[in-house]
Amino acid sequence: MKFDTPAAENPIDQLKVVGRSTERIDGPLKTTGTAPYANDRHDVAANQAFGYAVCSGVAKGRITAIDASRARAAPGVLAVVTHQNAGKLGKGDRNTANLLAGPEVQHYHQAVALVVAATFEQARAAASLVRIDYTPASGSFDLAAAQASAIKPEDDGQGSPTDTAIGDFAAAFAKAPVTLDATYTTPDQSHAMMEPHASIASWDGDQLTVWTSNQMIDWGVGDLAKTLGVPKEKVRLVSPFIGGGFGGKLFVRSDALLAALGARATRRPVRVALARPQIANNTTHRPATIQRIRIGCQRDGKITAIGHESWSGDLPGGGLETAVNQTRLLYAGANRMTAMRLATLDLPEGNAMRAPGEAPGLMALEIAIDEMAQKLGMDPVAFRILNDTQEDPEKPGRPFSQRQLVKCLEVGADRFGWRGRDRRPGQVREGGWLIGTGVAAAFRNNLLTKSAARVRLDNRGVVTVETDMTDIGTGSYTIIAQTAAEMLGVPLDKVIVRLGDSNFPVSCGSGGQWGGNNSTAGVFAACMKLREAVSQKAQLDPARAVFADGQVSVGARRVPLSEAAGEQGLVAEDHIEYGDLDKRYQQSTFGAHFVEVAVDAATGEIRVRRMLAVCAAGRILNPKSARSQVIGAMTMGVGAALMEALEVDKRRGFFVNHDLAGYEVPVHADIPHQEVIFLDETDPISSPMKAKGVGELGICGVAAAVANAVHDATGVRVRDYPITLDKLLDALPV
Ligand code: MOS
Repeated sequence: MKFDTPAAENPIDQLKVVGRSTERIDGPLKTTGTAPYANDRHDVAANQAFGYAVCSGVAKGRITAIDASRARAAPGVLAVVTHQNAGKLGKGDRNTANLLAGPEVQHYHQAVALVVAATFEQARAAASLVRIDYTPASGSFDLAAAQASAIKPEDDGQGSPTDTAIGDFAAAFAKAPVTLDATYTTPDQSHAMMEPHASIASWDGDQLTVWTSNQMIDWGVGDLAKTLGVPKEKVRLVSPFIGGGFGGKLFVRSDALLAALGARATRRPVRVALARPQIANNTTHRPATIQRIRIGCQRDGKITAIGHESWSGDLPGGGLETAVNQTRLLYAGANRMTAMRLATLDLPEGNAMRAPGEAPGLMALEIAIDEMAQKLGMDPVAFRILNDTQEDPEKPGRPFSQRQLVKCLEVGADRFGWRGRDRRPGQVREGGWLIGTGVAAAFRNNLLTKSAARVRLDNRGVVTVETDMTDIGTGSYTIIAQTAAEMLGVPLDKVIVRLGDSNFPVSCGSGGQWGGNNSTAGVFAACMKLREAVSQKAQLDPARAVFADGQVSVGARRVPLSEAAGEQGLVAEDHIEYGDLDKRYQQSTFGAHFVEVAVDAATGEIRVRRMLAVCAAGRILNPKSARSQVIGAMTMGVGAALMEALEVDKRRGFFVNHDLAGYEVPVHADIPHQEVIFLDETDPISSPMKAKGVGELGICGVAAAVANAVHDATGVRVRDYPITLDKLLDALPV
């Protein structure tokens, strides 16, 4: 099905199942511990052996010798795989560094060997006996130091330009009576998902099956095949349950490759899970940024000039953090510029983490907007509303498909009890606490991408959906079941959803908050086809057929679905693909975050007291799981604001705090009352579902709202994340 004109009314609009708060259909599997995660799959292949990765102890250099003799002689050891005996390896389209190093080492903790043994403990013990000698090379590990030599890549890595310029920014900024010129930094961050990367690989002749934890099945199949040098058809990936990804599992990582190599070497199925302390440096992370923002305003608060420059770093051949994305679209202003530069860093590979681009971009921009409002003596909500735009500010005349930023701010201000900024910061005290509130806009683009599904109706009237879509904890199983139930007029318990297997039709996968809208739109397309097949089989006019209560009917003639399916059942497969609607209309999601904090006046300790998010993101398919996505994202935003940072050892080139003791994320006690409001919205431009993404919108702007609240409480403006108490201590009001 090609979607190239705005959606008309369709069966989803009945909202008998879709749009209703629905508990996860996979919930019982999760709460009883029976959902099969990759590393739990004792059942899928007999005689499994265990692999333990040996990771590089240098950040850059060359392996000069590998002595695996002691490891090979250790109890239970079956094989030691290194670049010397792994066979020729290629590189997937999405890997910057090789997943198995050698002889060159490209980053710290890059895998250099896999020890396979009969038990996990034996593999781990023997891994410590592998001796690797390196000739280290000097590397570049400091973004600030590398900033001056950063280059302008050909594009932003996603087909958009690195730089944009509209009007005359320099002249307008020079002329503006009120200006801001400030630089912000965001640190490297780790996904810190609960489930470590894990894979079990098994060869049957030249056919490889990998049970893994991966967000994008089809990308993974292609990249693993390329790396191993085998045809794509010979690789099957299975990933039905994923304990969090946040972008860290968009691509196959070393666990999958090493498991495949270990299994090939030992002729046994091999299981490899990355140990928690390996993940931060072996896999990807959100890269640090330096962002300079300049804003020029008239005295009435109208923005006349807005400029945003961002620097980030990556390994040679890597890509940009697209931190200026939102600045191209969020506020009006006739004169504008954005630019992104990429420095070469020999740190582990930088890549996508929840709302890549916008999440760190808004951490900077939304403090800058708060600073500007303060300079103007304006309320920050009013300042944002004044500078709203209803068209793409870089492409005048190009509308947004939906844009309710102003309403989000207004509804939020009302619900939160936002008081205008008629007072200076640092004035509200409750005993030893300084109290402040902060606001920020949320923005995240809505991406459209092809997605397929297969739907089967059997002679019991049961509908089975199969697609290689993944559920990374987001609720995909449930919204897909809701979609099929709505389309075919059956209750939820008559729908079976099977996901995460490359034997199923290729979906959009889970990433960039595109999963919800696109995967259900693919299911919609397949269900439309199935409705036609069912109608024909029942000898009813497909155009007039009504699917309800487990029956298909036209007028008084009703046929139960079980009967229409026939003994053999009926199957339909289709995909959604898109025309140019996303070029004609800018598709984005919007929101507003409000936060109240208390800061200990003596110690600078920051406690978040309450949080509110108002989101406008098209039709909300399942308010319950959507809310879960947003409160999870708000929690992650608190982490970004107050605690999360991978600390770089700038001499040796690695992330020092590479476990969950050193890399702090919020715990329950850090998170206060959270409220989420979804504006009533449908977006007929986005898909037949009229839905958009929320999973990433929820984090966008949160950290800045916290930062702005801290400033309001204390009068201290911190421009370098995370806002730890040492950055406040010397400047707190007495
Ligand atoms: Mo997302 S960072 O594309 O999983």
